[in-house]
Amino acid sequence: MIPDQYTADHNRYNNGMEYQRCGKSGVLLPRVSLGFWHNFGSVDSYEKARQITRFAFDHGITHFDLANNYGPVYGSAEKNLGRLIDDSFRPYRDELFISTKAGYDMWPGPYGNWGSRKYLIASLDQSLKRMHLDYVDLFYSHRYDPNTPLEETLQALVDIVKQGKALYIGISRWPLKALEFADAYLRERDVPLLIYQGRLNIIDRAPEEEGILKYCNDHGIGFISFSPLAQGLLTDRYLHGIPVDSRMAQHNSLSQSVLTPEMLQYLKQLNAIAMQRHESLAEMALSWILAQKGVTSVLVGASSTGQLENNLKCIQAPSFENCIIPKFQNKASEKK
Ligand SMILES: NC(=O)c1ccc[n+]([C@@H]2O[C@H](COP(=O)([O-])OP(=O)(O)OC[C@H]3O[C@@H](n4cnc5c(N)ncnc54)[C@H](OP(=O)(O)O)[C@@H]3O)[C@@H](O)[C@H]2O)c1
Repeated sequence: MIPDQYTADHNRYNNGMEYQRCGKSGVLLPRVSLGFWHNFGSVDSYEKARQITRFAFDHGITHFDLANNYGPVYGSAEKNLGRLIDDSFRPYRDELFISTKAGYDMWPGPYGNWGSRKYLIASLDQSLKRMHLDYVDLFYSHRYDPNTPLEETLQALVDIVKQGKALYIGISRWPLKALEFADAYLRERDVPLLIYQGRLNIIDRAPEEEGILKYCNDHGIGFISFSPLAQGLLTDRYLHGIPVDSRMAQHNSLSQSVLTPEMLQYLKQLNAIAMQRHESLAEMALSWILAQKGVTSVLVGASSTGQLENNLKCIQAPSFENCIIPKFQNKASEKK
């Protein structure tokens, strides 16, 4: 048990964390941010969630990323964040940058999914109640909706900011054309797009290949990489089998079918390069992303403080000059 009372480390901004300007905005984000997709739900240990978040904040991680349906069960990661705010972080609210999202299935019926104004506004109202917050720093459209006019989704985001329920807005997993449209629409309405959230890691380089990262960089929009460790593949977790407490063993978001002999061989090749660089595979994987032009932050998940401690080392990692990281030919798949 860790004590209920929490006083943040006085050295939290002198512990090695670096902050990067998010596009051309006034916001600085930590190079390493913490995601609540796994490990923070009602099925997980609240004590551990508290340990991880306190460790994160004590080490300068000021950005926590959530979504309405993170859990399981849906909504429970936000509920746990509300508890964490009450028992640990309320005095530090203005030092935290908290994001949430809506876009995937959240409640039954036609109004609990995708990108309608009806869904986004109702969902954020629910999220704020669960998180015991008056506003979020950042609200995302979690995915592109091909069946809702983009103007409707974007105007809902603009209105959310104008109502003071979010300070900034972002989009996640939108194709390049829709990103371009969103950028122009939002700029005209004086609510510029703060950030794009996309999956960029050594295995999956789609945002680079599709021109999304370049567009963001050229237009003053931040970019944050989700699943930067490919859900744990880009660590030492699976080099010698599938541990029983691992995501691959316990959750269907990371299928065992991804771990083909070719993938394992590739991961071992990457691990050998990391060892030559005197770092762990996780450190190398994260620092590779941070070295890509236009990347603001990596949004890591962690099931222990030890993992987070290791991941934080990526900030001081050696450069990639004269070090080419090979590509994997088949992309790893993720269910969600
Ligand atoms: N916008 C979107 O659609 C979207 C989609 C997915 C994620 N996200 C965001 O991105 C965040 C991160 O995603 P993610 O959890 O998939 O990220 P990730 O960093 O790729 O994977 C995290 C998992 O990797 C393992 N791990 C982490 N550090 C490790 C280390 N140093 N050594 C060994 N294993 C390590 C842990 O798995 P074990 O459980 O096996 O220990 C951990 O839970 C999410 O929480 C969410 O905020 C957004």
